[in-house]
Amino acid sequence: MNSLQGRDFLSLTDLSSSELFHLLDQAAELKAGTLRPQCRQVLGLLFSKASTRTRVSFSVAMYQIGGQVLDLNPLVSQVSRGEPWADTARVLDRYLDVIAIRTFKQEDLTEFAHYARIPVINALTDLGHPCQILADLLTIREHLGFLAGKTLAYLGDGNNVANSLLLGCAMAGMHIRVATPRGYEPNPQVVTQAQHLALAGNGVLLTTDPQEAIEGAQVVYTDVWASMGQEAQAQDRAPLFEPYQVNSALMKQADPRAIVLHCLPAHRGEEITTEVLEGPQSRVWDQAENRLHAQKSLLVSLLGAS
Ligand code: CP
Ligand code: NVA
Repeated sequence: MNSLQGRDFLSLTDLSSSELFHLLDQAAELKAGTLRPQCRQVLGLLFSKASTRTRVSFSVAMYQIGGQVLDLNPLVSQVSRGEPWADTARVLDRYLDVIAIRTFKQEDLTEFAHYARIPVINALTDLGHPCQILADLLTIREHLGFLAGKTLAYLGDGNNVANSLLLGCAMAGMHIRVATPRGYEPNPQVVTQAQHLALAGNGVLLTTDPQEAIEGAQVVYTDVWASMGQEAQAQDRAPLFEPYQVNSALMKQADPRAIVLHCLPAHRGEEITTEVLEGPQSRVWDQAENRLHAQKSLLVSLLGAS
């Protein structure tokens, strides 16, 4: 039994650094086709928010290892009519072998995981998006050769992706600089966790100055200024976030060989210009592809497939 079999993946901190690197190594082998594990298990997808990449990449990953997928659209199940998470968890764990949940409150995910005996995966909450960061680290490693000592600059909203990047970079031995407008910083508890996880000498920098964050960075990352559930605030936020737009002028401050990442979907002309998103430094399509390989690696380990 591998050390991840049967465990939950609610946050990157559910992994040790060596388990994180093992998942990345295994993802690379799965991508190369040198590892071909098989399973006959069933993955449930319980998504209360829209998704293209996460839903499809989890589904394809499961099919490619011989498993099945059930899309448990909350709108047509009793979840949307108020059946408690604790009850839903204790029923679904008798049918499914693993479940990926996309929802709003991290507490709902934690409650589900408390009651479910099967592995529960965080497929995005308001607090974190750990599956995204597995693919991000895989992409950075592919393009820059290694992770330790590299500097990632995240510009924009201190949201779920920023929170998980803080943890992922700290665990991988990278420096991370996060630039947000005042009042839109990442979750303070997550920042403290990242500071504790960071190896001695490695930096976790929070700033309101996008120039300070991007100066010499090897990876430049951004995400939408208003996440799912915050759409009503988008107009008010736009002027505050404008200085954080990843554009060609700002990119001149980064390392000239820097790569640009975005978890997607992107709002061109807001957090990133078309020129940068479609430009030679962008690696966003490789990044999106890597969702498949990284999550397949996660499923293989949680299910103990061989
Ligand atoms: N990046 C990401 O999670 O995309 P989806 O919302 O399309 O799943
Ligand atoms: N921060 C974004 C990420 C989408 C993948 C959101 O939560 O909407």
